[in-house]
Amino acid sequence: MTLTPFVDPLPTPRVLQPVKRECGITYYEVAMKPTTHQFHSELPPTPAWGYEGEIPGPTIEARRGETVRVNWINNLPDKHFLPIDHTLHGCHDGMPEVRTVVHLHGAEVEADSDGYPEAWYTNNCEQIGPCFKQTTYTYPNHQRAATLWYHDHAVGITRLNVYAGLAGLYVIRDEQEEALGLPSGTYEVPLVIQDRSFNEDGTKFYPSSPLEDPPPDFPNPSVVPGFAGDFITVNGKVWPHLEVEQRKYRFRILNASNQRFYRLHLDENIPFVQIGSDGGLLQKPVRLDEIVIGPAERADVILDFSRVESGKRIVLRNTARTPFDFGAPPDPATTGLVMEFRVVRRNSDDNSIIPSFLSYIEKYKECDAKVVRDISLDASFDKYGRLKFLLSEKGFIDRITATPVLDEVEVWRIFNAGPAYHPLHIHLVQFQLLDRIPFDVEAYNRNGQIRFTGPPVPPEPQEAGWKDTIASPPGFITRLIMKFAPYTGRYVYHCHILEHEDYDMMRPLDVLPSDKCKRKC
Ligand code: C2O
Ligand code: CU
Ligand code: CU
Repeated sequence: MTLTPFVDPLPTPRVLQPVKRECGITYYEVAMKPTTHQFHSELPPTPAWGYEGEIPGPTIEARRGETVRVNWINNLPDKHFLPIDHTLHGCHDGMPEVRTVVHLHGAEVEADSDGYPEAWYTNNCEQIGPCFKQTTYTYPNHQRAATLWYHDHAVGITRLNVYAGLAGLYVIRDEQEEALGLPSGTYEVPLVIQDRSFNEDGTKFYPSSPLEDPPPDFPNPSVVPGFAGDFITVNGKVWPHLEVEQRKYRFRILNASNQRFYRLHLDENIPFVQIGSDGGLLQKPVRLDEIVIGPAERADVILDFSRVESGKRIVLRNTARTPFDFGAPPDPATTGLVMEFRVVRRNSDDNSIIPSFLSYIEKYKECDAKVVRDISLDASFDKYGRLKFLLSEKGFIDRITATPVLDEVEVWRIFNAGPAYHPLHIHLVQFQLLDRIPFDVEAYNRNGQIRFTGPPVPPEPQEAGWKDTIASPPGFITRLIMKFAPYTGRYVYHCHILEHEDYDMMRPLDVLPSDKCKRKC
C-alpha cells in the first residue's frame, strides 16, 4: 500500500471541557469507545478505539495545584480487534479479552489513581482485575508545568490497547512558565507521533505472530518482540502538513509509538531549540540539529521559521534505525518522513521570546542516596523459543524486589548488555540522569563482573532536566537518581517498548512508609 505524503492538514486534538467544577475540583468524564478514524484521505475510515472516540484522545489541560478528577469509563466491546496472546500473564483463558486501566504517564499521583496494570476493568465494570479500586482517578497536579500523556496500561495487552488508539495528552500549566513569553495560543502545537500499518482494506494491521509459518504447538496469536509501523502519523494523520507563519512556534513532541525511536531533523538545517523534556522546562534552552526521542519521551521545542522564505516547504524527517539503533534504517520515502511545514507570511508581530534561562532545576546529590539499585535489561527465551524480555531476570509476577522508602533518594543503575536501546520508565517519580558509564559487556555476561571501560558520560544538556523515561543504550550503565515521594504504595517500572512491557519487562515497585511516618501514624 502507498499513501501520498503531506496531503492532509495536521489536526490538533481538542481540549476537553470538564463536566463540572465544584468545591475546588475539576471533574471530567472520558469514555473509551470504538470509533472509526480516517488516518489519511486516501484511506477509508478505519476501526479504532479512542478516548471519547478520538485519535489521539482529547487533551486535558490542568493548572498546577488544580485537583482534577477523571472518571475513565470503559464503553468498549467484549471482543478485541487486535490479536491477543493468551499465554501472557493476565490474558489466560477465562480472562476477559478487553480490559482497560488508564495511566497518566509522568504524573505524581497516589497509587490507587496510577493505573496499576492489574487494576483493570471491563465495560460497565462487569469484571474487574485483582487490584481494581475505582474508575475515577484523582490527579493533584502538584508538580511543575509539563507535557504528560495518558494511555492504557492493562496487563498483557497494553501494546494492543495503545495501538488501537487509547492515548492522549495531558498538559500541566503554571504561572512561572507563562511568564516566560514563549510562543503560545495557536503558536503552541502538540505533535503526537505514532507509527501505524494498514491492511489492503484500510483496517489497522498488527502482527499476530513473530513467525511466518508458526508450527502447530506455537501460540497463535503470539506476542512479537517489537512492532514498527510502515506509516508515521502525527496527531492521528499519516504524514500531515502544517501551514506555519514566518515566526517562532512551540511544539510539544510526544513519541507515543509502541517500539519506534525517532531521530528527527529538519530540512534547511533548521535547528530545534529544546526547552523542555518529560518533566517540564529545562534550565536553559538547547540548540540541536537533531533530536532523538524514544517511546514515551517528550521534547518541548521551539522552531523558528522567521528566516525561511515564504512558500518554502520544510520536511521533518526521521533517520533512526529500528530496532534502535542497530536495525534497518528508515526508508527515506516513507518511514523517513514525519510531516511537512509550509511556510507562509507572518500576519502579526511575533512577540514571543526564548529566554536564556528557563527554570531552576535543583540537582539531587549522589551523596544523599541511601540505596543503589542495580537493574539489568535482559532477554531470554520461553519454552516456545520466543524472546522474553526481563528486568534483572524477573518478570511482572515475580516477587517484589524494589521497595524504596518514602522520601529517600536512590540511585538506579540500569545495565544494558544487549544489542538494543530500551526506554526505561519509572512511575510516580521524575528522575535525573547522572551519567552513562561504558562497561565490559562480555565480562558482565560471563560472570556478572562489572568492569568500566571508560569514563562516565555526563548527560547531554537536553537530558539534564526532569525525566521519567530514559534511553538506556547498549554497552552502558545508565545511572539515575530520584526521590520516592510524596506517596507510598504499589507502582511499576518497565521498558516503554510496549511489546517488551507486555512480555515481560515490567516489575512492581512498593514505596514503603518511612519509620518516621510509621511512628506518627
Ligand atoms: Cu507510559 Cu507505565 O507507562
Ligand atoms: Cu508512567
Ligand atoms: Cu525494552
